[in-house]
Amino acid sequence: MKGLVLSGGYGTRLRPLTHTGPKQLIPIANKPNILYCIEDIRDAGIKDIGIILGNVMPEKVQEFLGDGSKFGVKLTYIIQGEPKGIAHAVNCAKDFMGSDSFVVYLGDNLLKNGIKAIPKKMNQEKADCVISLCPVKEPQRYGIAELSPDGKQVLRTVEKPREPKSNLAVIGVYAFNSSFFKVYPKLKPSWRNEMEITDAISLLIDSGFKVVPHHVEGWWKDTGKPEDILEANHLILDGIESSNEGKVEEGATVVGRVRIGKGTVISGRSVVRGPAIIGEACKIGPNAYIGPYTAVGDRCEIGSAEVDDSIVMDDSTINVERKLVRCMIGKGSRILSANGMLPKGERLVVGENTTMYL
Ligand code: TTP
Repeated sequence: MKGLVLSGGYGTRLRPLTHTGPKQLIPIANKPNILYCIEDIRDAGIKDIGIILGNVMPEKVQEFLGDGSKFGVKLTYIIQGEPKGIAHAVNCAKDFMGSDSFVVYLGDNLLKNGIKAIPKKMNQEKADCVISLCPVKEPQRYGIAELSPDGKQVLRTVEKPREPKSNLAVIGVYAFNSSFFKVYPKLKPSWRNEMEITDAISLLIDSGFKVVPHHVEGWWKDTGKPEDILEANHLILDGIESSNEGKVEEGATVVGRVRIGKGTVISGRSVVRGPAIIGEACKIGPNAYIGPYTAVGDRCEIGSAEVDDSIVMDDSTINVERKLVRCMIGKGSRILSANGMLPKGERLVVGENTTMYL
């Protein structure tokens, strides 16, 4: 079996963060979303993985992942370019897959319990396709599956149904065999001009192939919007263990489960309250408060601010006597005090599509 991770798409809902790179590289608890996907596939025993690249600085994905050897996998890059739909992205991998069956993982999905059950199910059920399902509150907003009365087979999948037949959303992990490539030429673009994966699955069913459901256990998160990323950060930090490769100076306090990276110094009267993660080579203090559910990347400096329930990406500096809550701060940002500056007022250099609450 092979793997396929989708790293295309525009990520419009995450601008401005996606002006400078693909959304699959946004760190969640200091690890890009795409790496969680690759590790889940690897831990399911699959080492040969294709990566679909889109148009948003795809070279950054290649730079980060390399040939995959660092992560114990072998990666092959496949260019999709324009995002013409998830089914289109999968079809771009036709030559790479050959006659093998494969698992597809959307690079902006996260699962608590990994994907080991999916290849198993594919083999045990002798299925042509396995789709992962999760109950949701507003089925009108998702691709929804309708199951046979015994629950063993999928009868239909519908994208954002007006009158949903179930509350089971089709989430971003699937398994297929080469029947996918047989039916793909018959697929038509949807009203939004995309080749929809839900339509491809329905086409498989209509063509007589066996599509079976896998009910996901534990949480699942799609990280397509800023609030979803903060929520995913929460869920991952909830499960971390403490470790300290840095230095907590006398007078500073670290409480709860906190991971501190190599070369990081927590100084002065600073307080770090877990669950939290602080990357490598950071300077925290002399008067900082890092609150629960905060992830601070590498080489950050946080002098005198309070930062709570937030993601601060690599190389950022925060030095302002303010409380920052549920913030996402992009790489290399500087948030400084305007105290004492004239004329008085906030001083901002704000990128396109930024949201600020002042
Ligand atoms: P979406 O979140 O549906 O699309 P998007 O990434 O363009 O985001 P937005 O709506 O904010 O503009 O994509 C789901 C996943 O599939 C995501 O990881 C990107 C990937 N994808 C591709 O690789 N190729 C595609 O053609 C599409 C539509 C998505």
